Amino acid sequence: MQVLVAYESRGGRTRRAAEALADAIGKQGSGATVKTLKDTTAEDVERSDAIAIGSWVEGFVLFKVGPAKGALEGVGRLPALAGKPAAVFCTYGFNPRATLDTLRQSLEAKGAKVVGENASHRAHPARGAAELAERICASGGGS
Ligand SMILES: Cc1cc2nc3c(=O)[nH]c(=O)nc-3n(C[C@H](O)[C@H](O)[C@H](O)COP(=O)(O)O)c2cc1C
Repeated sequence: MQVLVAYESRGGRTRRAAEALADAIGKQGSGATVKTLKDTTAEDVERSDAIAIGSWVEGFVLFKVGPAKGALEGVGRLPALAGKPAAVFCTYGFNPRATLDTLRQSLEAKGAKVVGENASHRAHPARGAAELAERICASGGGS
């Protein structure tokens, strides 16, 4: 199966999380392409059996904590996902709060079937990547 791992990163931690997820998907015997959400095209999505979307957590101290604005905009530009298996991940500094729920809902609004999620602290961006890769690869989106 082919998995598109698309991310929004400002300082590089979410990029590292995306690369770790792609490595772990490779170890499961599947292929993974890593791209920024900004560079992701409709063709990238259509060629993939499953997608994983990652963001850093952006907020203002006590309120409005969630996915980075650029991540939600990027998801908004994706084509219809029509039942495609999807996963969401984020890196955070303090507390991700509802970030994964918000990302999940944005993908479900596109028709994706969300099969897994992972939040990793910015000190350990690769943590949880292997488990998330297992969930994605077990979703069996295509061959
Ligand atoms: C402007 C800004 C706001 C942030 N707000 C939050 C926040 O509300 N909660 C949190 O847990 N982390 C917050 N962080 C920390 C980042 O989510 C964290 O460092 C993340 O790993 C950065 O990912 P990146 O290196 O891919 O950009 C914030 C970081 C920045 C730069």
